[in-house]
Amino acid sequence: MKRSAGRWLAALLAAAVVVIPQTVSSNEPPPWAYAVNPPGSQMPPDDGVPRRVPGSDRTFSITQLRDLFGVPDWHPTDHPAMPEPVGKGRRPDALACGFCHLPNGMGRPENSSLAGLPAEYIVQQVADFRTGARKSSEPRSLPVNFMIRTAKAATEEEVKVAAAYFASLPTRRWIRVVETPTVPTTHVAGWMLVATEPTGTEPIGSRIIEMPEDLERTELRDSLSGFVAYVPPGSVERGRALATEGAGRTVACAVCHGAELKGLGPVPALAGRSPSYIVRQLHDLRNGNRNGLWASLMKRVVAGLSDDDIVDLAAYTASLAP
Ligand code: HEC
Ligand code: HEC
Repeated sequence: MKRSAGRWLAALLAAAVVVIPQTVSSNEPPPWAYAVNPPGSQMPPDDGVPRRVPGSDRTFSITQLRDLFGVPDWHPTDHPAMPEPVGKGRRPDALACGFCHLPNGMGRPENSSLAGLPAEYIVQQVADFRTGARKSSEPRSLPVNFMIRTAKAATEEEVKVAAAYFASLPTRRWIRVVETPTVPTTHVAGWMLVATEPTGTEPIGSRIIEMPEDLERTELRDSLSGFVAYVPPGSVERGRALATEGAGRTVACAVCHGAELKGLGPVPALAGRSPSYIVRQLHDLRNGNRNGLWASLMKRVVAGLSDDDIVDLAAYTASLAP
């Protein structure tokens, strides 16, 4: 009797060792950060109507707006002339970087901002995508798979030219962070969260709901229309405490990411960037799906983070001025 109770206790303890970390951190990629289009979703056909956005005298057809080898540039005076790999790419597989990351490098929730990142860092990340050292925790993510396809096809020279271009661009305020207990109900369309019509609300829970400020302009790939990120009440302050003090669970970020997290040497900035992107990276790093040359420096940072810590850190970094 005594022996079996002892065994039972030992088994329970052994199970607890496994179970406890899982209650704080799951390896499931959170669906609100890794937005996947519903299967079978199709883009509507081109209706032939020329489209416009505010502040631009250009017009583009729907077909032009979907051209992966010719970036719709609504605001050409807003950025320097795009070099070939950024504005046009090269068929069949080196897609134009600017199509996804936008001509001004500010990016969208399903990809990443590149404006102002160190050129050396950009080159290294593309190399990591090429070798497979860096991948997404969500294998169905078409945007990431297209990024990998581009990384494999682009030449060293093309990547160098694109990296120099994006590194030269200024960053700007692009995400408005709002703490709130309730958020609009959303669904995934175009690989990002969008408000469901008719509009309803639901509790935010432990999520970040990042969506276009103006869905129509974002759908038209207007590079001057940004995003709003709804974050849980108190998350910005909790994230600030974690990022600056480590709270025994992590390492203060500024040591490597620089003062106000604006980047340091080849280490990327975090301030003012898409919180869904930041959440994905912390999950990918923690899950071992991001194993590039410099990723080992982040291992100790992410090992002890819970899923909620990741939400708090991303809410905080997004709230900082870029
Ligand atoms: C089809 C869309 C698409 C195209 C085209 C594209 N990218 Fe990306 N890029 C992405 C996505 C998606 C990610 C990763 C997002 C993630 O991990 O969640 C990414 C990530 C990156 C990153 C990592 C940023 C960081 O902070 O670590 C770099 C650097 C990058 N891309 C550079 C480029 C360059 C240079 C080109 C052109 C040669 C390019 N991309 C073309 C979609 C694209
Ligand atoms: C010891 C240095 C170091 C510390 C401390 C550190 N980082 Fe990093 N971080 C890096 C390096 C280096 C990279 C680039 C990793 C790579 O190339 O894959 C990185 C990458 C990242 C990325 C991905 C950025 C991108 O553009 O894709 C995020 C997010 C991040 N760190 C968040 C944090 C947070 C939050 C903290 C503090 C809690 C932190 N880091 C602390 C060195 C560090």
